[in-house]
Amino acid sequence: MTNFWQKLKRPFMMLAPMYDVTDEAFRQMFVKYGKPDVFFTEFVSVDGLLSDAGRPKLLRELYFNKNEHPIVAQVFGSDPAKFREVAKLIAELGFDGLDINMGCPDKAVIKQGAGSALIRKPELAKKIILAAKEGAGRMSVSVKTRIGYSKIEEMETWLTAILEAEPAMLTVHLRTMKEMSKVPTHWELAEKVAELGKKFGVPVAGNGDVKSLTEAREKAAKYNLDGVMIGRGAFGNPAFFAGREMSREEKLLALVEHTNLFEQLYRPGKMNDKLFAGHTKNFAVLKKHFKAYVAGWSGATALRAKLMEAETAGEVDRIINQYLAGKEEKRS
Ligand SMILES: Cc1cc2nc3c(=O)[nH]c(=O)nc-3n(C[C@H](O)[C@H](O)[C@H](O)COP(=O)(O)O)c2cc1C
Repeated sequence: MTNFWQKLKRPFMMLAPMYDVTDEAFRQMFVKYGKPDVFFTEFVSVDGLLSDAGRPKLLRELYFNKNEHPIVAQVFGSDPAKFREVAKLIAELGFDGLDINMGCPDKAVIKQGAGSALIRKPELAKKIILAAKEGAGRMSVSVKTRIGYSKIEEMETWLTAILEAEPAMLTVHLRTMKEMSKVPTHWELAEKVAELGKKFGVPVAGNGDVKSLTEAREKAAKYNLDGVMIGRGAFGNPAFFAGREMSREEKLLALVEHTNLFEQLYRPGKMNDKLFAGHTKNFAVLKKHFKAYVAGWSGATALRAKLMEAETAGEVDRIINQYLAGKEEKRS
C-alpha cells in the first residue's frame, strides 16, 4: 500500500478521534448516512496495548469493519521503542494509518509525558514519529497536535520540528494546550500552517469548531488546506458529511438506531462475547449522544430528561416512538 493521504481528493474531510465517542457504533452511523473521507478511532494507550493485561480490552477500541476504510488508529504514549512495536500491531490489524496524538490536554495523559506534553519535547516527538514509521512498514504515520503548549508564538518552531520528521499528514487543532477548548479556534493561523505543510511536502488539515460541511470546505479553500477534521460539529448528525442537517424526526430515529448498534456491540450478549470477549461498556456512554441528537427545539429538554433515565436500547426505542406518536397526533 502506498501513502493513501496523497491519493485522497482535496479537501479531504475527517471525523475526529474522540475518546468514548468515536467507537464502532458511532462510525457505522456515518457509514450509513454520509461517510467522511477518513475515519479515526478514539485514542488508545501505547503502554496499554503492549501490556498483556491492557491489550484485550483496548483491542475493542481498535475494532472496525471493511466499510470504514480508510481508517486510522490513534495512539498516545511517550516511548519511541513502544511506538515502533505498536505500529507493527496496528499494521497487522489492517489499519490504513497510525496517528500519533500530540495534542491531548488531559492531565492524566500529560503526566505520562504523552499528548500535549510532547509539544515541550520536540526532539522526543521527532524520535517517536521516526520510530513509529520504522514499525509501520508501508502503513502511513500521521500526527495530530495543537499550535503550542501555552503560547501561539510557539507554533512555527513546534510544527517545523514535527514536519522535519515527515509524517504522512499533520492535523492541527488551532488552539494551544492551555486554551483547551475554551477560546475560539485561531483559524487566522491556518494559512501559515498550510504554508509550512507545503514547504515540507506534507498534507495538512485544520481542526476546531467547524459546524458544517460547507464551512469546512470554505475554510479549506480560504486557507489553502489539504483537509479539515470535524469532531463536535458532527455529534448528533450522522448526515454531516453528506452535507445536510437531518430533520428532527430523522435524528430521533437515528438515535434509536445508534443506541441499538451500541447495545449489540458493547452491552452483555452474544456479539459482545464474540467480538470483545465480554469487555462491555456502560450504557451511560450514550448519554452525550442523547444530548446531541435531542437538542434545539422546545420539548427537547423534557425528552432528553426521559432518555437520561433509560438503561436499555428497548427503553430508548419506546420513549422515542411514544414521543413521535404523540407528535403525529398533535399534527393531525
Ligand atoms: C469527547 C471528546 C473526546 C476527544 N478525544 C480525543 C482523542 O481521543 N484524540 C484526539 O486527538 N483528540 C480528541 N479530542 C479532540 C478532538 O479530536 C478535536 O480536536 C476537538 O474536539 C476540536 O475539534 P471540534 O471543535 O471539531 O470538536 C476529543 C474531543 C472531545 C470533545
